[in-house]
Amino acid sequence: MTKYYHITTYGCQMNVHESEKIAGILSELGYESCERIEDADIAVFNTCCIRENAENHAFGNIGMLKKLKKSKKDMIIAVGGCLTQQIGKADVLHEKYPYVDVIFGTHNLNDLKALIIKKQKQKKAVIEIKDEGVICEEEHPLRTSFPNAWINITYGCNNFCSYCIVPYVRGRERSRRSENIIREAEELISKGYKEITLLGQNVNSYANGTDDISFPELLRRIAKIDGKFRLRFMTSHPKDFSEELAKVISENPKICHSVHLPVQSGSNPVLKAMNRKYTVEDYIGKVEILKKYVPDCTLTTDLIVGFPGETEEDFLGTMRLVERVGYSSAFTFVYSKREGTVAARMDNQIPEDVSKDRIMRLIALVNSQTRSQSAQYVGKTVEILCEDFDTKKGLYQGRDGYGRMAYFASDKNAIGEFVNLKITEANGISLYGERI
Ligand code: 5AD
Ligand code: SF4
Repeated sequence: MTKYYHITTYGCQMNVHESEKIAGILSELGYESCERIEDADIAVFNTCCIRENAENHAFGNIGMLKKLKKSKKDMIIAVGGCLTQQIGKADVLHEKYPYVDVIFGTHNLNDLKALIIKKQKQKKAVIEIKDEGVICEEEHPLRTSFPNAWINITYGCNNFCSYCIVPYVRGRERSRRSENIIREAEELISKGYKEITLLGQNVNSYANGTDDISFPELLRRIAKIDGKFRLRFMTSHPKDFSEELAKVISENPKICHSVHLPVQSGSNPVLKAMNRKYTVEDYIGKVEILKKYVPDCTLTTDLIVGFPGETEEDFLGTMRLVERVGYSSAFTFVYSKREGTVAARMDNQIPEDVSKDRIMRLIALVNSQTRSQSAQYVGKTVEILCEDFDTKKGLYQGRDGYGRMAYFASDKNAIGEFVNLKITEANGISLYGERI
C-alpha cells in the first residue's frame, strides 16, 4: 500500500530548498507526496523562527494536528528546522505537543532517515538536536520548483547582526566545495532547468578560506556552462559586495541584472547598533559601483522598522534611502525581539503603535515605487521564463530577468519556456501581457 508524506514549510528560500531535501529522503524511504495533510502517513513541519509570528504560526499548526493524530495513531509527525534548533525549544515542543514523534534540528537533516526508522521501531519520541553541522555534499533533493533550481553554496552565518537569530540556529558559515556546486549546476541544466539560484545567508563571503575560489569566480564558472539559463544568487551582505562581483555580473549575460541587497536601515546609529558593519554612505557607494558596471540593474532589499532606539529621524533616514535607491520591491519587517540575540537585551524597545505607524508609511513608499516602475513596462516587450500556471487567474506566470512577475494566456503548457510578452497592463507588482 502506498504511504504518503506531507511537508509544511515556513520561512525563507533556504527552508523551501531544505524541504526539497526532506522530500528526497522521504521518497527514498518509499513515501509519496500528497496534497492534504489528513492523507499523510508522515507529516513534516520545516519551521522558521526569524520573527515571533513565524514561530507562533508553526506552533499553532502543530497544535491543530492533535485531533488528527488521535484518529490516525500510526501517523508520524516530525518537526525540524530553525525553531527546534533554538536552545531549549525542542523540550518545550515535546512537553507542549507530546504527540510529535520526531524532533530534529537544522544540523540533523542528514540524519532524518535514521531518525524516522528509529521512530518506526519505538514508541517513545525521537529527539535529536546537534550543536554543529557538517556539510553533506551528496544530497538528493526532490525538486518542486521546475524550471527554477536552488543550489546551496554556503550554510550558516558568521555575521551576528544584533537582531538576528540565524547565526544561533544555523551555526557558523560553511562553504560547499566549488566542484560539487558546479557539477550540480551542470546536471540541472542538462536536465532542462532554466534558472539556477545560488543560496547562502551571505553568498559574498563564499570560500572564506575553506575553498579555492571566490564567489565572483564561482559565478563566472557557472555562467560559462553551456545552454540557455538564468543565474541568480541570494543573499548578499552589503559589506562584502565587491567591485569584482559587479564586474562579473556585467560580463556574463546569464547572470540576472537584479540584486537583493538588504540594507535594513537608512540610519547610521541604527546600522551600528544592528552590527551591520557599514554606513548609509558605504551602502550607497556599493549601489553606485553596481550601477556603474550594470546600469540597468534593479535592486531589492530587506528593511526593518522599530529596531530598539530607532527615532523618528532614524526612520526618516530609511525613507530617504528608499527614495534615493528606488528599489523594484522590498521586504519590510517590524523588528521582532528574539531571545538570545544582543538586541533583545537592549532596553529602548519601541512601542508597537510606533512601529506599526512606521511600517505603514514605509510600505506605502515601497509600493508607490514598485507601481511606478511597473507602469514603465507597459508597451514594452520582455522575455519571461514561464514558471507556473495560476489557477485562480487562469493564466501562466513567469518572471523577467529583473525579477518582475508577468501573467499571460497560452493555449499550450508554457512552463519551462522562455516567452516574449508585450506588456499591456501593470497592476501593482504584477504585469500582464500578450505572447508574441
Ligand atoms: N526582526 C525583524 N526582522 C528580522 N530579520 C531578521 N531578523 C529579524 C528580526 N528579529 C529580517 C532581516 C533579514 C530578513 C531575512 O529578515 O531584514 O534580512
Ligand atoms: Fe542574520 Fe545578519 Fe546573518 Fe543575515 S547576515 S542571516 S541578517 S546575522
